[in-house]
Amino acid sequence: MIVPLVYKEISQQNLAEEIASNLGTTASTNQQLIGQPHFDLSEAGLSFFHPEARSSNKLLIDFHSGPTGWRVKRSSHEKLIKKALGKSDLPLNILDCTAGMLQDTLLFLSLGHQVTALEESRILFHLLQDGINRSEDQAIFTKLNLINTNACSYATQAKGFDVIYFDPMYPLTKKNALGSGKLEYIAKILETESLNNDPLADFEVLQLIPAKKMVVKRPIKAEPFSTKINYQVLGKTTRFDVYI
Ligand SMILES: C[S@@+](CC[C@H](N)C(=O)[O-])C[C@H]1O[C@@H](n2cnc3c(N)ncnc32)[C@H](O)[C@@H]1O
Repeated sequence: MIVPLVYKEISQQNLAEEIASNLGTTASTNQQLIGQPHFDLSEAGLSFFHPEARSSNKLLIDFHSGPTGWRVKRSSHEKLIKKALGKSDLPLNILDCTAGMLQDTLLFLSLGHQVTALEESRILFHLLQDGINRSEDQAIFTKLNLINTNACSYATQAKGFDVIYFDPMYPLTKKNALGSGKLEYIAKILETESLNNDPLADFEVLQLIPAKKMVVKRPIKAEPFSTKINYQVLGKTTRFDVYI
């Protein structure tokens, strides 16, 4: 599906056309398009709207506030991730196979690690890039390499990583979709792009990448992808399965 880009201000025409060309779509001021999935370019930045998402807001990546702000109430999560990564005196080279909204990647970056983050969704990738360009904290992104690709296609060229991190989509239940508008928006984006990966099949490929360890984030009660787990770090609703 081609997702059109809609903008209002004539002063944004050049930028809108440049972004649309990168996205392989069209840019116009046609307000009739706003009833369907579309990108919206305004002074606030680039956002995405899906009419069937429960959140009536457009999805705009803002790393500093709101639902995509990354430091908000994350300290317990930070402890778990630190534990899963283990102690290291030197910065780690981490491959985040599932960038999503970059929340986990930002944690890794804030701990001083180098991150290559992969996101297969073209829509999400462009929203992330726009969020990064608007961010007040450019320093944190200097150790990030964000790539628009499927992690399984990248796997053969993945070399020199200490940690492979994999956080696939949870099956969207009523409970977690309601709890997390973000997750539902990602699901709608993937639906729009007809991207439907099989996390177990992806795991089988990604666990072959040479690295010191692989960390897999799972819902607390989910079946592990493999019985060869070395240890688990348990949170309240989430756990990290660590494979060495
Ligand atoms: C649950 S979200 C990850 C959330 C992320 N850890 C965060 O902190 O924001 C999963 C994301 O990974 C992406 N994804 C899933 N499988 C992928 C694959 N094989 N290659 C690249 N991206 C993938 C999806 O498009 C989605 O954006």
